[in-house]
Amino acid sequence: MNELKHVAIIMDGNGRWAKKNRIKTALGHRRGVEALRDIIRYSSDEGIFALSIYAFSTENWKRSKEEIESLMQLIVDFFRSEIDELDEKNVNIRILGDINGLPEKQRTVVLKAQERTSNNTGLRLNIALNYGARAEIVHAAKQLAQKAFQGDLSVEEITEETFENHLYTVGLPPVDLLIRTSGEQRLSNFLLYQLAYAEMIFPEVLWPDYTVEMYQTHLKEFANRERRFGGRKG
Ligand code: IPE
Ligand code: IPE
Ligand code: MG
Repeated sequence: MNELKHVAIIMDGNGRWAKKNRIKTALGHRRGVEALRDIIRYSSDEGIFALSIYAFSTENWKRSKEEIESLMQLIVDFFRSEIDELDEKNVNIRILGDINGLPEKQRTVVLKAQERTSNNTGLRLNIALNYGARAEIVHAAKQLAQKAFQGDLSVEEITEETFENHLYTVGLPPVDLLIRTSGEQRLSNFLLYQLAYAEMIFPEVLWPDYTVEMYQTHLKEFANRERRFGGRKG
């Protein structure tokens, strides 16, 4: 049985779900948040160490103004309605991504949630907002270069460990399991560094239809996978 510390989820398929049900895309996203709520609760109750979810990518700004506005509104609604329960459950919220690139209202709400739960020791809930893995990696490289340039760090001190200390996920273990719903089999610029040895599962289900039962099945499938990390078994 593999030990599971860190799950990452690309919640994909809200748009197709809305289309299939002949409703507005915004409502698809709203239903997606309901599915998310259940998965967070279950992860927290099960004692999973870390859960990272992809909520809005740096590339998602390419969408229509109307869709972006509905997603931004959902972010505010989500934090306002969930924060008390999450805090009560000892969940520690961290935003992955460029918070400064968010509109002021969203920035304020997420910073408050992060701050309020910063001493919590339960589920590490990472919410990727305005997140892009390439930008994250370049940002880390820049910070290290700056330190080396100033003489605070020698080139020899640039190791995987010091590099990881400059990623948004500093202090967290690498991702063990990635789940992406909707049948798409790609990473779409999510946690490229942290996913180096992750097991991946790509269920066909559209995100608003994703249930705790499916999640349990996927966690079990992960537990039974053979992970080698480049070595040889037996
Ligand atoms: C994922 O659902 C949610 C976000 C990207 C915010 P999509 O909106 O990408 O759903 P599809 O891929 O169009 O079905
Ligand atoms: C990835 O999904 C981003 C989120 C789920 C937030 P997308 O739907 O944006 O990815 P692509 O465009 O299909 O690769
Ligand atoms: Mg999509």
